[in-house]
Amino acid sequence: MGFKVAVVGATGNVGREMLNVLEERGFPADEVVALASRRSLGTEVSYGDRTLKTKVLDNYDFSDTDLCIMSAGANVSREWSPKIGRQGCVVIDNSSAWRYDPDVPLIVPEVNADAIAGFSRKNIIANPNCSTAQLLVVLKPLHEAATIKRVVVATYQSVSGAGKEGMDELFEQTRAVFVADPISAKKFTKRIAFNVIPHIDAFMEDGFTKEEWKMMAETKKMLDPKIKLTATCVRVPVFIGHSEAVNIEFEKPISADEARDILREAPGCLVVDKREDGGYITPLESAGEDATYISRIREDSTIDSGLSMWIVSDNLRKGAALNAVQIAELLIERGLITPKRKAA
Ligand SMILES: NC(=O)c1ccc[n+]([C@@H]2O[C@H](COP(=O)([O-])OP(=O)(O)OC[C@H]3O[C@@H](n4cnc5c(N)ncnc54)[C@H](OP(=O)(O)O)[C@@H]3O)[C@@H](O)[C@H]2O)c1
Repeated sequence: MGFKVAVVGATGNVGREMLNVLEERGFPADEVVALASRRSLGTEVSYGDRTLKTKVLDNYDFSDTDLCIMSAGANVSREWSPKIGRQGCVVIDNSSAWRYDPDVPLIVPEVNADAIAGFSRKNIIANPNCSTAQLLVVLKPLHEAATIKRVVVATYQSVSGAGKEGMDELFEQTRAVFVADPISAKKFTKRIAFNVIPHIDAFMEDGFTKEEWKMMAETKKMLDPKIKLTATCVRVPVFIGHSEAVNIEFEKPISADEARDILREAPGCLVVDKREDGGYITPLESAGEDATYISRIREDSTIDSGLSMWIVSDNLRKGAALNAVQIAELLIERGLITPKRKAA
């Protein structure tokens, strides 16, 4: 008997990708249930060649469900994850609601798989922010080799990171530019079509945005509290795929060739780094792919031991759905969950 899995937020960008990833990876599910808000009651979503009719989260009984993969935003998660967890169903949450709770493991399987052991305190496991997940897959093996002191990162984040409304806004504004229609901005603070916006999530008192703070706080929680990280997060008119220009300062010397060799062997990483026209990855090529791509690796001669590089990944996959499904697989591999219906 396999697992019963609920996908909450199944009609959203991440939820739809979650269903794709579960099916593609042959996740051992006997039953997959699609859940969303009342607005989506009966909406059809694809799960492989099957079609699921969306049910409503409110009052759904999770007592015979083994796993709930949640991507319905922080408010929904704050209200629902503890209730679902108390029904003996393990929640893997994509929102920011639980990431900084000391009783909730924040996991990227390639980075800190062993931290998953503490999940049973709340039956909740948090998935990191999309920009952090792809960054840490790369930083982890480099930190092991040469000890990272400081990271300076500028992100170029796609509109799908702002949900389906973000994608619709880029599409609508682009169309409006071409047909000379009036342009309105609802989801983003300024026009995103043919523009870039240096602002993601709310402003904090120190002038950084919450998105920038998340990258710093999540890196400390998952990789090493001693690493200093400063970020500038920017929204760009790309549909899928987040890119990052990253500068890393190390304690020990490490050359670009050594870093390339380390990353070629590192799980989840794919080095595409030819010093010629087109010898690097762009977000368009990362869409629909599982890997985190690393290009433009070069030594930074302005510091004693530093590297600069370009990191690109599909934010809906490694940044969300793929990482969540990998966490579910890790629970099974380590024997941390078994199907309830088998036990009955
Ligand atoms: N996009 C990314 O790259 C990314 C990466 C990492 C984490 N995340 C996080 O994942 C979550 C979802 O992101 P998204 O991009 O998929 O957003 P989205 O496209 O806007 O989808 C939101 C989903 O949540 C559902 N939902 C909203 N309110 C609900 C309620 N009261 N009860 C039940 N379901 C409700 C929506 O259902 P309806 O269709 O019925 O409204 C929809 O299925 C967010 O917390 C986001 O921060 C996103």
